[in-house]
Amino acid sequence: MELSRENRTYRSGNSSKTPPPILRYRVHRAFDEDSYVRNGRTISQCLAGAFGANGVHLKNLTILDFACGPGRVINEFSGFTESCALYGSDIDAEAIAWAQSNLSDVALFSTNTATARTRYASDMFDAIYCVSLFTHLDEQAQDEWLGEMARLLKPNGVFITTTHGCCAMDSCTPRELADLQRDGIVYRVDRKGKFKVDGLPDFYQTTFHAVDYVKKHWGRFLSVVDHIEGGLNGHQDIVVMRKSRVGAGYNPQ
Ligand SMILES: C[S@@+](CC[C@H](N)C(=O)[O-])C[C@H]1O[C@@H](n2cnc3c(N)ncnc32)[C@H](O)[C@@H]1O
Repeated sequence: MELSRENRTYRSGNSSKTPPPILRYRVHRAFDEDSYVRNGRTISQCLAGAFGANGVHLKNLTILDFACGPGRVINEFSGFTESCALYGSDIDAEAIAWAQSNLSDVALFSTNTATARTRYASDMFDAIYCVSLFTHLDEQAQDEWLGEMARLLKPNGVFITTTHGCCAMDSCTPRELADLQRDGIVYRVDRKGKFKVDGLPDFYQTTFHAVDYVKKHWGRFLSVVDHIEGGLNGHQDIVVMRKSRVGAGYNPQ
């Protein structure tokens, strides 16, 4: 896909800064630095493409990377800082401390808690993206965070997030696939407590979504305007949502 000039991502001079191995592992499940940087770049290009395809040109916007970790993706958007105000938020205080110390020229970083209410004002952001978070939450937490994303977006603002869809179901058991067909969502609980090697809270597990579930269930919070299967690097799906022009957020049926 040919990107508009505004949406072409490129790395800034300081982008060779990468976080320590454990912080990289938490977001990337690998220790090597090259694949961390490479994936960040590819992801940022996929996001820029999805924004552009949905009429969002990354110029003069206020943008939030929600669940940004140590800034793997937002660092790749550093070329936009002249015209855009970039923000990053994550529950991982260590990752945010690293980003604050090393990427403060790219974005303003802060922590949020597990309670679905951030410190940001209502209607603050033109665009929000959130990579690999809804792929790890249960249904209740997803609903709460979708409500918060709707609150944070300006009317007509765009939210992009990712799901484990059909291109990411190789590990699903026959039982999980049957559950997915019936319920449209599967939340797989694996290791907890001291057996959880990523160091993230126990609620952070693995979730799979069907396209139809996303459209119907998530559509109660924001309009689902695009669903690109395998759109994130051929693996996760990209879901594009838009807040209504009049600013209504949560729209329970
Ligand atoms: C797979 S990582 C992806 C990080 C980043 N989006 C990226 O692509 O590099 C998932 C991130 O979600 C964060 N996270 C988990 N629960 C969260 C929550 N409730 N609010 C904000 N961030 C959360 C984790 O700390 C972790 O940084």
